[in-house]
Amino acid sequence: FSAFLTDSFGRRHNYLRISLTERCNLRCQYCMPEEGIKLTPRAQLLSTEEVLTLARLFVQEGVDKIRLTGGEPLIRPDVLHIIGEMRKLEGLKTIAITTNGVNLSRLLPGLKDAGVDLLNISLDSLVPAKFEFIARRKGFHKVMEGINKAIEMGYNIVKVNCVVMRGLNEDELLDFVALTEKKPLEVRFIEYMPFDGNRWNFKKMVSYQEMLDHIKQEWPNLELLHGAESDTAKIYKVPGFQGQIGFITSMSDHFCGSCNRLRITADGNLKVCLFGNSEVSLRDVLRSGATDAELLQIISAAVGRKKKQHAGMFSISKMKNRPMILIGG
Ligand code: GTP
Ligand code: 5AD
Ligand code: SF4
Repeated sequence: FSAFLTDSFGRRHNYLRISLTERCNLRCQYCMPEEGIKLTPRAQLLSTEEVLTLARLFVQEGVDKIRLTGGEPLIRPDVLHIIGEMRKLEGLKTIAITTNGVNLSRLLPGLKDAGVDLLNISLDSLVPAKFEFIARRKGFHKVMEGINKAIEMGYNIVKVNCVVMRGLNEDELLDFVALTEKKPLEVRFIEYMPFDGNRWNFKKMVSYQEMLDHIKQEWPNLELLHGAESDTAKIYKVPGFQGQIGFITSMSDHFCGSCNRLRITADGNLKVCLFGNSEVSLRDVLRSGATDAELLQIISAAVGRKKKQHAGMFSISKMKNRPMILIGG
C-alpha cells in the first residue's frame, strides 16, 4: 500500500469520497442553512477530466473504493460518464454513491449499467409531512420509490441514512427498525453532527446509547453483528428480520482509530478529516500543470498532517468548518 496515503498513525486510506457538486434538490436542515449557501463559480469546480485524473491517481496509490457524494451527486449531468470511466480503473473494487434518492428511480438502470456497486440513500422520516419539514422540499414518495426499485434491481444491501434529531424524528426509530423486517435494508441511525450553519446543539443530538436502549425495549434480543473494521456503523439485527440496523456514533463514540477515508470537495480541496478544517487545493496543483509525483507529494503532506482523532463534539461544534453540503458527508 502506498506510503503517500498512509498517515503518521499507520492508517491506510483506501477509501476516497469525491463530492461531485455543491448543488442539491433538497434543503435538509442538518446539512445547510435555510438561506442556502454561496455556490462556488463553475470554473472553480473540478471538471469531468479533473475528477477522473484524481480518481486514477488515488487508485494507482491503493484506493479501492470511491464513493460519490455532493450536494446531490445525481444532479451532476456527467455522473454516468464519470462512473463509466471510473469503472475502467484497474484496482478500483467498489464504486458507491450517497444520494438523497429523489432522482434515483429514474437513473437506476443507468447507474447499474455504468457499474455502481453500493447505494446509500438518505431518508429522515417515514411521514411525508415531516420529511418535507426536515428537507424543506417535497420528495418522500420519490425517495421511497427509489429505495424499492433499488431492492428490485438486486441492490442488496441498500443502506438508508437517517440523521436522528430530538424533537424531530426520534419518535420514528421503531418504525424505521420495522422497515427492515421485510426489506433487505440497513437502516443507519446517525448521531446529529455539527457543521457550519446547521444550528447543532447537544440537546438535539440523540446518542447511540439512548437509541439502543429505546430499540431494545421493543426488541430485547437485538443481536450485535460484526462488520468490517473500518465501518462507520455499529451493526445489529433483529433476529428473523431480512435487513439490519446500524448506528453511526461519530459524536458519542468516534471511530477515528480505524479511519480509512479521504475526501475531495467539489471545488477540488483534499480534506483529510470530516471534522478537520485543514484543506489543500488539488485543483490548483492540477491546473498549474504539476506532475503526478508533485501531486502525490502534496497529497502525502496533507495526509501526514491528519490528526489522530477529531477534537470532540464541543470543540468541533465551535470550530469553523464547511457546511455539510460542501463536504459531502
Ligand atoms: P459506507 O461506505 O457504506 O461505509 O458508507 P459511509 O457510512 O462511509 O457513508 P455515507 O455517505 O452513507 O455516510 C453516512 C454517515 O456517516 C454520514 O453522516 C457521514 O457524515 C458519516 N461519515 C462518513 N464517513 C465518515 C468519517 O470518516 N468520519 C465520520 N466521523 N463520519 C463519517
Ligand atoms: N449529522 C449527521 N449526518 C449528516 N448527514 C448530513 N448532515 C449530517 C449531520 N449534520 C448525512 C446525511 C447523508 C450523509 C452523507 O450525511 O444523512 O446521508
Ligand atoms: Fe476519520 Fe476524521 Fe471521521 Fe475521525 S472524524 S473517522 S479521523 S474523518
